[in-house]
Amino acid sequence: MQSMNKVEAALHSLARLAASKVARNRQVADVVFDRCPSMTDLARSALNHAAFILKLPKTFFLTSVMLEVTNTCNLKCRFCPAVNLKRKKGFMDVGLAGKVLKQCKNLQYVYLYDWGEPLLHPELDRIIETATRLGHRTFMVTNGTLLVPELSEKIIAAGLSTICFSIDGIDETYEYFRGVEYDLVRENVERFLKVKERLNPDLRVEINYVVSELSEGAVERFREIWGPKVDHITFQPMLTYQNVPRRRPCRELWKGTLVVFWDGTVVACCVDYEGLLAVGDAKKDSMNALLNSQAMVRLRRGHAKGNFCSLCSYCSEYETSEIDGRFDGRLAKE
Ligand SMILES: C[S@@+](CC[C@H](N)C(=O)[O-])C[C@H]1O[C@@H](n2cnc3c(N)ncnc32)[C@H](O)[C@@H]1O
Ligand code: SF4
Repeated sequence: MQSMNKVEAALHSLARLAASKVARNRQVADVVFDRCPSMTDLARSALNHAAFILKLPKTFFLTSVMLEVTNTCNLKCRFCPAVNLKRKKGFMDVGLAGKVLKQCKNLQYVYLYDWGEPLLHPELDRIIETATRLGHRTFMVTNGTLLVPELSEKIIAAGLSTICFSIDGIDETYEYFRGVEYDLVRENVERFLKVKERLNPDLRVEINYVVSELSEGAVERFREIWGPKVDHITFQPMLTYQNVPRRRPCRELWKGTLVVFWDGTVVACCVDYEGLLAVGDAKKDSMNALLNSQAMVRLRRGHAKGNFCSLCSYCSEYETSEIDGRFDGRLAKE
């Protein structure tokens, strides 16, 4: 793990305080400072963002890696493309995860999910342990339905840094989208909070709430109920593939994130769930080389010129004035 000296730590706290006072959207400031735990991380992300603004064909730093530990799932959520995934199903080999993570330095996070439910991986704790041993912070997103206390203990002991539960409403709204009882996930999260208080109170807990026409109205109520219990709630607009062609380049291509499917296929963005724009193979290619490989440069050049491939062209999000967009940089009211 990157360690900060006292001056850097003081500067970071000062910047965090200033951002929380001036940021129009404090939720965004909170996330930026969690994802960038040092001044160096902030500088790296700022440079990548500058590359996006300037539409450079290359970006500067690899800042995070998403490992799709599995693309199998125990649920069939109504809005999720993983339900109809065509590519082969499987589980990432612990050795492959280690190979990828050994090459990466100074990542802000290793994300342990893409499409599928990570808690189904029988050796998830070994992958978390490997990442932790190599000095990486780990971030897992889960539907939480399988999180029994024994499993919570295992992943906490392995060194998990942040867990994010996907809960998109309460009661019937949640049940409509996820097809399971709201009380099941509520109880699992509450039990997890107790276990983590006992074993690692510093473990960060977040919630991701997919905002769509049906769940939009409950955002404030949800914030009231869950806000005091967790460290952060992200309200994320639902991805849609509407007939509204993209007009602006997508900042995701410059952010410094690469996504590794369970079988080693590397893609530029999590939205490419079928691997239509595969840019490499983690079994043989290095992550740092792939970040600015010909395929990535071609994608960025296309976006910079307004030539979008069909996947990017129709990648859009549910339009709402309540929250920020993720892939097009819209800003909403606080
Ligand atoms: C694909 S899931 C994988 C992890 C785990 N199975 C879960 O549900 O948390 C990762 C995140 O994507 C979100 N997600 C799924 N479909 C989405 C969509 N159409 N638009 C936006 N987010 C979506 C989920 O709610 C979850 O927070
Ligand atoms: S959102 Fe998560 S839990 Fe739901 S179907 Fe998709 S991968 Fe599975």
